[in-house]
Amino acid sequence: MACSLPNASPMRAARSASVLAAVLAGLLCATPWQRLSAQQDPNPDAPRPRQIAPAMSWVYADWLTRPERQREEQPDRLVNSLDIQPGATVVDLGAGVGYFTWRLARKVGRAGKVIAVDIQQEMLDMLAVNLRERGIENVETVLATPQDPRLPQAAVDLVLLVDVYHELAHPALTLAHISRSLKPTGRLVVVEYRKGQPGVNIHPLHKMSVAEVRSEIEPAGFDLVEVLEFLPSQHVIIFTPAGG
Ligand SMILES: C[S@@+](CC[C@H](N)C(=O)[O-])C[C@H]1O[C@@H](n2cnc3c(N)ncnc32)[C@H](O)[C@@H]1O
Repeated sequence: MACSLPNASPMRAARSASVLAAVLAGLLCATPWQRLSAQQDPNPDAPRPRQIAPAMSWVYADWLTRPERQREEQPDRLVNSLDIQPGATVVDLGAGVGYFTWRLARKVGRAGKVIAVDIQQEMLDMLAVNLRERGIENVETVLATPQDPRLPQAAVDLVLLVDVYHELAHPALTLAHISRSLKPTGRLVVVEYRKGQPGVNIHPLHKMSVAEVRSEIEPAGFDLVEVLEFLPSQHVIIFTPAGG
């Protein structure tokens, strides 16, 4: 049976047909994520192909030190929960302006070292100012590439990625470098906003489920140690090198 529109003039019919075609094309060509976000995701924990978020530009760096972040992400509580020993070597991968770097630097103390890595020199410049203002001197900054975080080999006790993993352009390559950088007893800590948690005003591409993170990190040669769920909106997912 042919469909007809009431009182449709040829022009209006042509316009309606092209609108319909555009809607259909949108539905057919939408990425899996766009299609899922259009409806309620029935199982947000199910691993599925992931769209990588673009790296957050230094232009928005002020957002990283927004006052409400203390309440939303509880950075001191997070760092205190990681059992970081004085003298440790810790990597803050995707350090941004250093919101976690200066906290890690205080934890490892003068005998320890933090390696603050980012792909944007502008972020590292702001981080250097933040460290100077706090009198912190045990931090080495590294300008990385999206393919290579330029880490030392078998020398690192802990690698921390806060709100970073979802925007790694080459996660498998980066994980291979992290794996080589860690001591056998080292740990990789990934902190990501929970997928499917209502009321959290974060772009869906910047949220990950535990299953999604595990499905990418374990095949890269890591074992899950534990998942901490004490933060209001984020998972803290801890791995160690497999067989370490
Ligand atoms: C959302 S910010 C988070 C910054 C910091 N971790 C924090 O919590 O305040 C993400 C940062 O990761 C950096 N980044 C993205 N991809 C990276 C990569 N492959 N290697 C190192 N840094 C990366 C970005 O340049 C940006 O500064």
